[in-house]
Amino acid sequence: MYVKGKTVILGVTGSIAAYKMANVASMLVKMECDVHVIMTENATHFITPITFETLTGNKCLVDTFDRNFQFHVAHVSLAKKADVVLIAPASANVIGKLANGIADDMLTTTVMACTCKKIIAPAMNTNMYHNPIVQDNLKKLQAYDYEVIQPDSGMLACRDVGDGKMPKEEVLVGYILREIAYEKDLKGMKVIVTAGPTQESIDLCVILQIIPQAKWVMKSQRQLCSVVRKLHWLVVSQLWNAPCLWIMCR
Ligand SMILES: Cc1cc2nc3c(=O)[nH]c(=O)nc-3n(C[C@H](O)[C@H](O)[C@H](O)COP(=O)(O)O)c2cc1C
Repeated sequence: MYVKGKTVILGVTGSIAAYKMANVASMLVKMECDVHVIMTENATHFITPITFETLTGNKCLVDTFDRNFQFHVAHVSLAKKADVVLIAPASANVIGKLANGIADDMLTTTVMACTCKKIIAPAMNTNMYHNPIVQDNLKKLQAYDYEVIQPDSGMLACRDVGDGKMPKEEVLVGYILREIAYEKDLKGMKVIVTAGPTQESIDLCVILQIIPQAKWVMKSQRQLCSVVRKLHWLVVSQLWNAPCLWIMCR
């Protein structure tokens, strides 16, 4: 994977899931990415900037008006440098701000200035997550080309059970890699994914047959995505028990 030197911005907000981002930062640093963490003031109640500074070797930005760092106008310089931004965990508050053009802290200001791919992982109490205003804001962000990672379901920190859990660190890193690890040389290509044992003869430029073993298909998600680089992992995983998987590109 070719991620060496890629600039990744991690935006961390005031959620109990913030601690997981230390692992995400560490995993990306081990892959030799240049990782910059921006925290909201409230996020610093959950995890300290020193943790991220130690792991990434870069100053963790919190205050827009802090003059003690390397970039000239930090939010703009960093935004220009970024290859991808992941906001995780994304609080209901920051989702609302980004969806409505509010830039009143270092994180929202920098994200607003970024032209690269922006990925957002909502994490919150299940009633907050299903609140129609939060859902509307997420739809709005999607319409503005943000990729929204669906939260997991399960027991939440508040002991409620439901949607709202931040996905595992590996899943978050997977979303980042899908954006920065491969050339977009299949961009614009139409991809049809079919499942089933039928083998029709169709006039196609490329036909790939994946060996029909469920476990193998699951394990091969990474390789598969490297072949069909724009294919969404979810599409593949939904087909994990398919007897036979064909991918056809033109
Ligand atoms: C213990 C605790 C856990 C919280 N967890 C979350 C959470 O997971 N998601 C969320 O949206 N808000 C959560 N909040 C509320 C946010 O911290 C609060 O809305 C805050 O204003 C968010 O600020 P920020 O968006 O600037 O980081 C939590 C608050 C506390 C005290």
